[in-house]
Amino acid sequence: MDLKQMNRLFKPQSIAVVGASNQVGKIGHTVVKNLLESQYDGKIYPINPKDAEVQGLKAYKSVLEVPEDIDSAVITVPASLVEQVVEECGKKGVGGLIIITSGFSEVGNRDLENRIVEIARRYGTRIQGPNIVGTMSNSNKMNASFGPFLPFPGKATLISQSGALLLAIDASTYTRGIGFDKLISIGNMSDIDFADCIDWLNEDEDTTCITLYIEGFKDGRKFIESSRVAKKPIIALKSGVSAHGAAAAASHTGSLAGAAKVYGAAFQQSGVVQASDLDNLFNRTLALSLQPPMKGDNLLIITNGGGVGVLATDAAEHSGMPLRFAPPELQTELKKHMPEFGSAKNPVDLTGMAGLEWYYDSIRYSFTHPWVDGICVLYCETAMTDPMEIARGVKQALDESGVKDKPIAVSMVGGERCTKAMRWLVDNGIPSYGAPDTAVNGMAALREYYRMQAMLKEPLETRREFDHEAAIKIIEHARADGRDSLTEIEAKQVFSVYGLNVTATHLATTEEEAVQLSTKIGYPVVMKIVSPDILHKSDAGGVKVNIKDEAAVRDAFRTIMTNAKAYRADARIHGIAIQEMAPWGTEVILGSVNDPTFGPTMMFGLGGIFVEVLKDVTFRVAPVSCGQAERMLGEIRGAPILMGVRGEKPRDRQALAETICAYSTMILDLADEISESDANPVLVYEEGKGVKVVDARIILKKK
Ligand code: ACO
Repeated sequence: MDLKQMNRLFKPQSIAVVGASNQVGKIGHTVVKNLLESQYDGKIYPINPKDAEVQGLKAYKSVLEVPEDIDSAVITVPASLVEQVVEECGKKGVGGLIIITSGFSEVGNRDLENRIVEIARRYGTRIQGPNIVGTMSNSNKMNASFGPFLPFPGKATLISQSGALLLAIDASTYTRGIGFDKLISIGNMSDIDFADCIDWLNEDEDTTCITLYIEGFKDGRKFIESSRVAKKPIIALKSGVSAHGAAAAASHTGSLAGAAKVYGAAFQQSGVVQASDLDNLFNRTLALSLQPPMKGDNLLIITNGGGVGVLATDAAEHSGMPLRFAPPELQTELKKHMPEFGSAKNPVDLTGMAGLEWYYDSIRYSFTHPWVDGICVLYCETAMTDPMEIARGVKQALDESGVKDKPIAVSMVGGERCTKAMRWLVDNGIPSYGAPDTAVNGMAALREYYRMQAMLKEPLETRREFDHEAAIKIIEHARADGRDSLTEIEAKQVFSVYGLNVTATHLATTEEEAVQLSTKIGYPVVMKIVSPDILHKSDAGGVKVNIKDEAAVRDAFRTIMTNAKAYRADARIHGIAIQEMAPWGTEVILGSVNDPTFGPTMMFGLGGIFVEVLKDVTFRVAPVSCGQAERMLGEIRGAPILMGVRGEKPRDRQALAETICAYSTMILDLADEISESDANPVLVYEEGKGVKVVDARIILKKK
């Protein structure tokens, strides 16, 4: 990343406004007015071809006429003039351009957009936009945008692909009381994208949490790389989650992959916390921007109301952090700060009689207790207590405990007094929410962040030994044959190259050969038609299983050939695959797609109705480490089946995870060749007995 130019763009000492205007209502007027009203402390250079002064500031006809250096230029002239302006800014040595102007790739004008990027690159100038609202920065007192005002001050920075959404968020930061240092609009991302902003914000001392509103990436892998190494929490809301491209998919996996699932996988792998909607994005941002991550699962809830305690308990379970009973010695201590009929278990119910002192004592003690990983304080407004007093008590207990590496969140349910107390808490660094479940969800975000950071420390699996040339040879043979998919035998050969355990399968072109191979493999065997023109072999009567002797092999050979010809007279038939009959195991499916944004991506799910009907599958962008693969096994709803249900022994999860890992190596190594693939079914045996790929399909990229 070009840190120097990005600094000049986002923290400029001087700004030119190209298209600055004296005419109220023009964007070029609003930007100058906003810079003045936000009391931007750098220099402002209005650029206007005809006016000598704009809003009381000396104006210049071109950036080239400005005698001093210019760090950043906001561009508010029509699209037809932008090329020339970018050229002039380049010549002038401007560090970065905030191009507000619309009329580029978003309306199909890609050539013009490419040209301005080309010019800027020639001069080493960075481009934010085009088609954006601009940048608002509290720490710089800089409203270089046409948004109404700087956001409610805070420590998060929002990067938004949508300008309209950024404007909406700007105003609502005040009503919600959730603070941002910067709002950055990136629009068409012609040059600077999410990853560039993350790299820069990583070094920005005014930002503690990076909040993203994403419509789509151009380069998903670049995003993963930047996010993985970020030192600050990143939270993302992704919109537009329809199943892109799924309709045209040729494999099972292709039909199950959708933007939501693949983006979700990429966020997991890059340690990005997800938000489910706009409210959730705000609420989680508040917790992530103010509090440290939660290092363990032990959340303690302290409340003065049973009802809100139960709501919080439900929310904790829903957020993947089910409450546990507090240990006995903690309960004994807490019992000292509540009436006889209170409860110290967890939630800790101080009862409606709770005053400042009980809240203070229980928070102060619990925070230092080693069992407690985080505290959620709930308060229902009562006539006997003053919410502001309780708020101050929470803060004092926290400060006096001396603990800085455990998070806390507060929920106050009540009226205006509660709202004021919560605003005070937020101003003092304690995230506070009107609803108990929202507070718990904020804590869950802090827990998720910690979990993902721990996961990112695991080494990414290095590539295993494999013979790339051997795989390419099989693929080239199929291409030379005019095919864009491999036969089952070829696909299994490729799988074997990458260490997947496939059922022994050989091609018999004659009845005699079929008998010889069956004897070699050992009875019983499975026989399947091998034809590039018959993809659904069972439908064509092309599969016979459990064939026990020579006579049955001869009989099956003739029947399959007759059926195949009847199914499709002109089908090219390579022969019949003779395959070992694998013993029964739990059926799972592995597969891959070449995602348009993230490239080779893995899928895992249980086979049969789990995948057909319930679509119970999970994804990861390749490469998938063994640790990630194990997590995939636990993510599907049918996960308990692999653990062994109804008296069955647990399945060999380790072998399955290793298979996923090896599969992901294969799709990454053959990224230029494989479009989609399935291993379906893969049979998973008891612990220690491994897995076996029974059927395989590889669809090639068209060349
Ligand atoms: N250098 C400097 N100034 C120039 C130059 C030049 N070479 N040429 C013309 N100008 C001046 C003009 O004289 C004018 O100033 P004036 O009012 O003193 O005459 C000023 O630049 C602006 O030019 P106009 O032709 O008046 O353009 P206008 O202001 O109508 O529109 C704009 C320009 C706003 C960039 C428009 O083309 C546009 O793209 N609008 C959409 C912007 C937008 O919404 N972006 C965010 C999208 S995200 C979202 O949806 C919220």
